[in-house]
Amino acid sequence: MPAIDQTKAQSGKALFETNCGNCHLTIKRDDPQRNIVATMIPLTAIGTDRTMATNIVTRTSKTGILQGHPVLPLSKLVPNLDKLGSQALTVQVVRYGVVGILVDGLDPVILKKGLSAFLEAAKKNASKAPSYKARPLNGIWAFCAILA
Ligand code: HEC
Repeated sequence: MPAIDQTKAQSGKALFETNCGNCHLTIKRDDPQRNIVATMIPLTAIGTDRTMATNIVTRTSKTGILQGHPVLPLSKLVPNLDKLGSQALTVQVVRYGVVGILVDGLDPVILKKGLSAFLEAAKKNASKAPSYKARPLNGIWAFCAILA
């Protein structure tokens, strides 16, 4: 790679900050304690191909041996959960497995403490409009510099 043209790098950085930085945060690479909160942008706002998001949220699959089980493997703590039918959203089937693994490894007392927050968060997530994450893009300024 040739040496970086610092003048172009600076104008690229400025372009990035003006046009991109609102959505794509810059990570402080030298701070191990950094806290990264990615910006979520609704699909209708970003206008890129919706398939990656809609593919996973709308796909259904056979539940197999999970048919008749509660939607979450938490029946000891939450008695009245809906039951899975023969077909369900694929995300529900995956969620069943993931929650099952987490529950297995958790102290029941801790589990009970965090349960209402978990159920609240799950409900909130399910009602969110599909969005894409605007990933941090450290270094993209170099590309902007080429275009500058
Ligand atoms: C309104 C918010 C917003 C702005 C402003 C914005 N982006 Fe993005 N960008 C996104 C989102 C959301 C995605 C993910 C879209 C997707 O996956 O389809 C994305 C994806 C990207 C990607 C692909 C990243 C990857 O990991 O696949 C690049 C590169 C990118 N943006 C560059 C830019 C640049 C350069 C600018 C400024 C000129 C810019 N973006 C401005 C929201 C934004």
